[in-house]
Amino acid sequence: MTPQTSRRWKPIPVIFTILIHISILSVCCGSTDLPGEESNIFRVTDSPNRKFLKIGLDHLLGTEDNFKLFVQKYNKEYADSEEYAHRLGVFAANLVRAAEHQALDPTAIHGITPFMDLTEEEFQRMYTGVSMPGGLDGRPDHEEEVMDTSGLPEYFDWREKGAVTDVKMQGACGSCWAFSTTGAVEGAHFIATGKLLNLSEQQLVDCDDICDEKEKEACDKGCGGGLMTNAYRYLIKAGGLQDEASYPYTGKKGECKFDPEKVAVRVANFSTISLDENQIAAHLVQHGPLAVGLNAVFMQTYLGGVSCPLICGKKWINHGVLLVGYGSRGFSILRFGYRPYWIIKNSWGEHWGEAGYYRVCRGYGMCGVNRMVSAVVTTA
Ligand SMILES: *[C@@H]1O[C@H](CO)[C@@H](O)[C@H](O)[C@H]1NC(C)=O
Ligand SMILES: *[C@@H]1O[C@H](CO)[C@@H](O)[C@H](O)[C@H]1NC(C)=O
Repeated sequence: MTPQTSRRWKPIPVIFTILIHISILSVCCGSTDLPGEESNIFRVTDSPNRKFLKIGLDHLLGTEDNFKLFVQKYNKEYADSEEYAHRLGVFAANLVRAAEHQALDPTAIHGITPFMDLTEEEFQRMYTGVSMPGGLDGRPDHEEEVMDTSGLPEYFDWREKGAVTDVKMQGACGSCWAFSTTGAVEGAHFIATGKLLNLSEQQLVDCDDICDEKEKEACDKGCGGGLMTNAYRYLIKAGGLQDEASYPYTGKKGECKFDPEKVAVRVANFSTISLDENQIAAHLVQHGPLAVGLNAVFMQTYLGGVSCPLICGKKWINHGVLLVGYGSRGFSILRFGYRPYWIIKNSWGEHWGEAGYYRVCRGYGMCGVNRMVSAVVTTA
């Protein structure tokens, strides 16, 4: 649509908020120089490793120009000028959030992602989808035995071993839990057989309505959220998981078309893994990619780098992803020097984050990444 008719987007409160935030950010970040190059247009700062981070004033003040670039880059279409004006307002507010995230999380790069026209609430409803049981504090059921953590490699990445499929896209459907589950099953199947298959999220979205054994309200509900541990229980009960080609992803909950004849992988059992991040690393190396839950609050504006925010709620887990590896030298300004990190596969396509991946610092229970970890066992 054409934007001419829609300039009236209540500029005063938005600009006022932006100005307040700019003054706060220039105090805490020491500099408000403008980044010059074109390539920075989608970032709110320039280099992530500079001592003084630069908040792009031009990004905040040239909001509508940036919005037009955003609309173009991501082929956004809005129904009418009212919707356009509304989305521009949301975009402006998200620029402020990105700048706040940048200040709180200086070793990651935050900026304009494909999700900048969604409010935080819309974003969580559409692009996350873990329904968290209340009792995450208790010891999980099906817990794995303690493993020896001596002699673990400094760096490990299942992608290099061919155990991870291409980054997928859940779309506007709270089905992250299904992608997290298929990722873990794909990895376990690869380790058992040496064959990598794309497995079907849609089967889980359409057919799985299992509820947690302890938290009876935490049920798998297609695009309305779910839990990876419920999904393993469903797969054990149903008899297995079809592949992507025989049961392709539509991004909407439909009638269950599961065909037991077309099962590609059977699930034998699963286990949940303790909070200790060294144990998590040992299980990752031993069992393959692990399904994990985390708090995705910093992910809406994440472009790259190691996310190591000063504050990130640990109990509020809303997103299911796949842990595929770790490294030991991620740089963190807030934690003074090089810190270990996790490598996480997301399901928001390759245009988000580091070609679809997220790195988050390791050893701090960051964003609750250690609180909902599971491994699955397949039979060939
Ligand atoms: C599944 O794993 C748990 C431990 O994680 C074990 O106690 C249980 O016996 C296993 N069940 C089967 C059917 O292998
Ligand atoms: C998985 O599907 C994607 C997209 O269709 C394809 O490019 C990729 O090669 C597939 N991977 C495997 C291991 O079959």
